[in-house]
Amino acid sequence: MEKGATILITGGAGFIGSNLCEYFLNEGHQVICLDNFATGKPDNIRMYFDNPHFRLIVGDIRNEEDCRKAVEGVDYVLHEAALGSVPRSIKDPVTTNAVNIAGFLNMLVAARDAGVKRFVYAASSSTYGDSQSLPKVEDVIGKPLSPYAVTKYVNELYADVFSRTYGMECIGLRYFNVFGRRQDPNGAYAAVIPLFVKKLMQHESPVINGDGEYSRDFTYIENVVLMNKLALSTTDKASVNTVYNTAFGERTTLNQLVGYLKEYLSIYDPKIAGVEVKHGPERLGDIPHSLASIDKARRLLKYEPLYNMREGLREAVKWYWEHLK
Ligand SMILES: NC(=O)c1ccc[n+]([C@@H]2O[C@H](COP(=O)([O-])OP(=O)(O)OC[C@H]3O[C@@H](n4cnc5c(N)ncnc54)[C@H](O)[C@@H]3O)[C@@H](O)[C@H]2O)c1
Repeated sequence: MEKGATILITGGAGFIGSNLCEYFLNEGHQVICLDNFATGKPDNIRMYFDNPHFRLIVGDIRNEEDCRKAVEGVDYVLHEAALGSVPRSIKDPVTTNAVNIAGFLNMLVAARDAGVKRFVYAASSSTYGDSQSLPKVEDVIGKPLSPYAVTKYVNELYADVFSRTYGMECIGLRYFNVFGRRQDPNGAYAAVIPLFVKKLMQHESPVINGDGEYSRDFTYIENVVLMNKLALSTTDKASVNTVYNTAFGERTTLNQLVGYLKEYLSIYDPKIAGVEVKHGPERLGDIPHSLASIDKARRLLKYEPLYNMREGLREAVKWYWEHLK
């Protein structure tokens, strides 16, 4: 990638987007962030407000004009804006659809018309749906288990059609349970790691849905940032217009996760070691096990994860301890 390229990061005020803003600014690029603060926060990007290489556009991807303005003069798009969370999509499928599908299409059209060089977007492991096979390999998917999963799969279909029809370069990154600094521990749809960290720090019992033997390929944010960088910079034609699992490639059960969290948090507060876990009913739309094969990313993007789950968790816990206390 050329130095000083202009990168539009949609959803740049969110968890993953703000980490991408940080990385690409540090690499000497111009960063434009488009966000409507639906779930993202000004605090996640406030440190860049005075940076001459950073520009914030407060706007909505459901609005075509906002998308058009945001892509003006842009070389690359990292499209992260979406409404995450399976339960949110079950409660309100219409809004999830409007943002994640209509908003995605608006961004694709705007990027096509502006002639951006590459469109890299946040896809999701939820696209594997009810497929039982493990590890998950990119071309073996099942039926979606939630409205959210439908939207993320439709993103892939549209990106593929735009590559074939308009000659756009698109790459989808199927993120697997990403965690790390700035992931929001608050709200009804908080992800499991920040939610459990917050509970444990308050000496309250985290509630595991089900018996805790469900497993996930928890992926530290630095690995995700690396995949975005590799997706933007690959020059091998065989590596574009496709999707990649974006993960570490190891699975951890919810019971193990809580064990690690207690271990790392009790370094700061020994009382946390004694906090008991509670179990609740299983959650609709949840898949039992998730584990990525990262062979394709290794082969075509030369991806080597930087942090394993436990190394990442230690970093994340340290960050939460310093910022939530
Ligand atoms: N975190 C994960 O584990 C995970 C896993 C798979 C896929 N993803 C995908 O990665 C992307 C980023 O997720 P995240 O975890 O950082 O979530 P996040 O909620 O922190 O970030 C999403 C950002 O998009 C913004 N946004 C939402 N609706 C918008 C709209 N209409 N217009 C403009 N901006 C809007 C939000 O304000 C927020 O800043 C999403 O597309 C999500 O579906 C995340």
